[in-house]
Amino acid sequence: MNESKVIDETKQGEALMVEKPENSNGKKLFLESYGCAMNFSDSEIVASILKDKGFETTKDFFEADVIFVNTCAIREGAEQRVRQRLNEYKKAKKTNPDLIVGVLGCMAERLKSKFLEEEKLVDIVVGPDAYRSLPELIEIAETGQKAVNVLLSKEETYADIAPVRLGSNGVTAFISITRGCDNMCAFCVVPFTRGRERSRDPETIVQEANDLFNQGYREVTLLGQNVDSYLWTGGGLKKENPTEDELKNATTFAQLLEKVALVNPNLRVRFSTSHPKDMTDDVLYTIAKHENICNYIHLPVQSGNSRILEMMNRGYTREWYLSRIESIRKIIPDCAISMDIITGFCSETEEEHQDTLSLMEQVKYDFGYMFAYSERPKTLAERKYKDDVPADIKSRRLAEIVDLQLKHSAERTKQGLGKVHRVLVEGVSKKSKEQLFGRNSQSLVVVFPKENYKPGDYVNVLAEECTGATLIGKVV
Ligand code: SAH
Ligand code: SF4
Ligand code: F3S
Repeated sequence: MNESKVIDETKQGEALMVEKPENSNGKKLFLESYGCAMNFSDSEIVASILKDKGFETTKDFFEADVIFVNTCAIREGAEQRVRQRLNEYKKAKKTNPDLIVGVLGCMAERLKSKFLEEEKLVDIVVGPDAYRSLPELIEIAETGQKAVNVLLSKEETYADIAPVRLGSNGVTAFISITRGCDNMCAFCVVPFTRGRERSRDPETIVQEANDLFNQGYREVTLLGQNVDSYLWTGGGLKKENPTEDELKNATTFAQLLEKVALVNPNLRVRFSTSHPKDMTDDVLYTIAKHENICNYIHLPVQSGNSRILEMMNRGYTREWYLSRIESIRKIIPDCAISMDIITGFCSETEEEHQDTLSLMEQVKYDFGYMFAYSERPKTLAERKYKDDVPADIKSRRLAEIVDLQLKHSAERTKQGLGKVHRVLVEGVSKKSKEQLFGRNSQSLVVVFPKENYKPGDYVNVLAEECTGATLIGKVV
């Protein structure tokens, strides 16, 4: 076991389907996506670009003319999964020698043209900022040549591309608001795979939220590696030291949140990921002020020990993090909080691991995403520190963290019993066709009898029973 999630947000490795385009070129695309919500959102941009060129999508890669896999490089395990997938595609290439296989996303950016040497099957390698060039790259590959574009950009935000919603429930959608990351956490490959941080024009974000609402969507999640760092000053890289004048005309994350919340009171707004060093009280007051901004903050801590946090280059201490939690509890009393934790980072002692557990006890997170440290090439940690916590110790520490989180999640869920929850209906429950499911503001899943309700409705559910992470009740 090297990673564990208490909840899984994106559908990994599922074929992503688009409506048949009117200008079909007769070619079929098999598209799948691994990694985070940001990657999934990027796949919607890729699908949009290719749909414009007339590509149809298929669920069966044996039927495809082009296979695209949008990859993740965050941990070694994520890359291994992609390699296994490429092995499966080999079978399709045997039956269709003209098949084009492209790798997109973070692993493509990390390995660049080395990918072509390591995996002979691959024809196209494209980084996250180069998706506009996909149609040309396909044309090159169709002539039998290999095609690579891994240029990172200082401006690209794909702001003008209307994403095609993939695998959508028609109710919830992602909107990217920033790209890249300037933080350089010592363990993290993202700054290398996604380049420098850029914010997207707020008008295009509000427009996208508005369009989604008009299409029937009732919830948007604003996405960025560090949403609190969002700052629109007219485009390009984030200004290090903006002038007074620039700041006067700028849009901050708190202001952006408010703009999106004002699109419609029936549009729920979520966001991810918040960074403890940048999350301001302004943002918290904006959440508290607007009923439709969900009371849920994903605030990765990574470790409960200040020495480890310093080595990780996270920019905060345990005390600072806990003071942010205190602010959340004060300003938004019923706010759910979730975390990411990495266990077994370089030189982490048993005592320091205990600090992570004690911080968890103090916060009692609602949800958590927990990982064993995986060394990534080129990162500060790889260059400076030794990955010296043995695998079995990492696994044991991870198991302890996961067990504690399961306990806390169950406690949090139980606290919801006997209360009425406002639930946005997302779809039919996996366990029974007679039941619907949705989430409350705190992002907790709530299941209830279907009656005549449908996805997109808001219902008030009295919670009567629960499992570890789900409330079960009836509409009142
Ligand atoms: N931008 C987000 C995180 C993006 S990556 C943030 O700053 O919070 C998602 C999570 O993967 C991280 O929060 C971290 O917990 C985990 N992660 C990143 N690099 C890792 C590594 N090398 N090994 C194990 N987990 C890692
Ligand atoms: Fe990685 Fe840190 Fe940036 Fe998150 S904030 S993407 S962990 S470098
Ligand atoms: Fe996301 Fe993985 Fe890249 S987590 S940003 S797809 S490395």
